[in-house]
Amino acid sequence: MADPDESSKMRERLLRFERESRYLRKDSDERKVLEEVFDRTTQLAVEELISRKDLRELYGVVSAGKEARVYLGEDTEAKPVAVKIYLTSASDFRKRMGYIAGDRRFGKLPSGSRDTIYLWTRKEFKNLQLAESAGVRVPKPHAFYKNILVMEYMGTPPQPAPTFAESEVDEDDYRWTFETIEKLWKRGKMVHADFSEFNVFKTASGDVLFDMGSAVLSSHPQASEYLRRDLANMVRFFRKRGISGKDASELEAEVTK
Ligand SMILES: Nc1ncnc2c1ncn2[C@@H]1O[C@H](COP(=O)(O)OP(=O)(O)O)[C@@H](O)[C@H]1O
Ligand SMILES: [Mg+2]
Repeated sequence: MADPDESSKMRERLLRFERESRYLRKDSDERKVLEEVFDRTTQLAVEELISRKDLRELYGVVSAGKEARVYLGEDTEAKPVAVKIYLTSASDFRKRMGYIAGDRRFGKLPSGSRDTIYLWTRKEFKNLQLAESAGVRVPKPHAFYKNILVMEYMGTPPQPAPTFAESEVDEDDYRWTFETIEKLWKRGKMVHADFSEFNVFKTASGDVLFDMGSAVLSSHPQASEYLRRDLANMVRFFRKRGISGKDASELEAEVTK
C-alpha cells in the first residue's frame, strides 16, 4: 500500500471492522475468543506466523465454515491477507484422505486427524503455487504453518470479493471457466476437484479461482473422475444461469486431447 492516504483509509476500515466484529473486541478478549474456537496449538501457530513476519495482525472472521475459518489479517506491510485456519477438531479428515492418497507429491499418509489437516494445509499451499505457475489467477499464496494458510486477500477489506454464486455471470466468465479447467489440466497437470460457483471470485480485474485444498495431480487415479465432475458442475451452473454451450463430455474430450 504505497499511497499513504489509501493506507490510512484501509486502517480505518480495518479498525472499524475490528470493533464491529463479534469475534474480536478488546485485546484482552482476543485470547478468550480464540480459546473458544481454537486449541492452544493453533494459537501458538498464529503467534509463530507473526514472529516469522508472515503476519502482523489477525482481524475478524470473514467466513466460518464447518472445516475452516477465514480471517482478514494484515501483513507486515499493512497489506490485507486472508488467513485460512483449518479446524483440527473437524471430523471430516477421513474424507480428505482420498484427495491425498494417490497424489505422488505426498509420501506416506499421516495416521492422525491433526497431521492430516496439516498436510491438507500444505497441499492447498502447493496447489495454489502450481496453479499460479500454470498461469491461472488464484490468491497469491504467502505462507503456511501447521493448519494455517496465509494468502492474498481478494476483495475490499473487510468485504471478500463476490463469488460466481453471488454475481451475474456472462459469456466471458463461461469462457474463463473452461479455459481455466483446461489450463490446469494441460499446463498444471492437475485438477481442482472442487470447482464450483462458490470457489471462484468475480473481481473487477477478472475471475480468480480459490479453495484449492482438494486439487490433485492428473496422475491421481481418480483425476479423470474429478475432472468430469468439475466440468459437469460448471456446465450445470452456467445452464441454470442461461448460458449453455458444449456438454460436459465434449468439453472433457477437448480438455484431455
Ligand atoms: N483469499 C481470500 N480473500 C478473501 N476472502 C477469502 C479468501 N479465501 C477465502 N475467502 C472467504 O472465505 C470463504 C470460504 O473460503 P474457502 O477457501 O472456499 O473455504 P471452504 O473450505 O470453507 O469452502 C470464501 O467464500 C470467501 O468469502
Ligand atoms: Mg469453498
